Amino acid sequence: MAEPEILLSVRDLHAHYGESHVLHGMSFDVPRGEVVTLLGRNGVGKTTTMRSIMGIVGKRAGSVKYQGTETIGLSSNRIARLGLAFCPEERGIFSSLSVKENMVLPPVIKPGGLSLDEVYQLFPRLLERGSSQGTKLSGGEQQMLAIARILRTGADMLLLDEPTEGLAPVIVQHIGDIIRTLREKGFTILLVEQNFHFAATVADRHYVVEHGQVIDMIPNESLAANMDKLKSYLGV
Ligand SMILES: Nc1ncnc2c1ncn2[C@@H]1O[C@H](COP(=O)(O)OP(=O)(O)O)[C@@H](O)[C@H]1O
Ligand SMILES: [Mg+2]
Repeated sequence: MAEPEILLSVRDLHAHYGESHVLHGMSFDVPRGEVVTLLGRNGVGKTTTMRSIMGIVGKRAGSVKYQGTETIGLSSNRIARLGLAFCPEERGIFSSLSVKENMVLPPVIKPGGLSLDEVYQLFPRLLERGSSQGTKLSGGEQQMLAIARILRTGADMLLLDEPTEGLAPVIVQHIGDIIRTLREKGFTILLVEQNFHFAATVADRHYVVEHGQVIDMIPNESLAANMDKLKSYLGV
């Protein structure tokens, strides 16, 4: 079998917030069509890695190639137009806008995105809640909306930062179903997760992050065998 194409290749990535040096040479690969997680304790730089990939961190150095195109030096707009979409931990739902209005807010950046109908087929709950204001949504509905609205953009790669945080177990399961469905549809997904039990149900491989560096890669099929090691990394 042919090696899978590496869609995103991160090499020796450094990032700073002002004087503070946060990423110390992150390196990892995301093969096309896979769900890949970044696992690690709080504050190790997982969110900063996503923000750096999207070009929304002030100062970054190293290499981040998307489909072979070097993105260091490109604006966040240009990076998004290559086909990357970011769903931040804060979810970024506009509370004064309705579900429908939130849904059509991100611009379509390239052809190939899902139609509104296709998005609503994946998220029937959002169709029911169409005219509700963002503030009236539950946490789970807000997370669904945050994921749903980036599917229209035409992005091939989705960066999801802690999509299950603070959600009830039944909603977490539903988010898992959605991630598996998106994978089947051919999306490539980089996922930050605190819940490694959940991560194991959706991902193909896991990168362990410590102090702004990737210190290990664990294929999902070896996760159970490496559980003690992973727990010691995560301090749980
Ligand atoms: N806007 C910011 N300004 C300064 N420091 C920040 C900022 N955002 C995050 N940091 C610091 O960078 C480090 C990594 O943060 P982050 O990437 O959010 O970690 P994680 O997502 O793994 O919890 C932490 O020490 C955090 O305090
Ligand atoms: Mg974070």
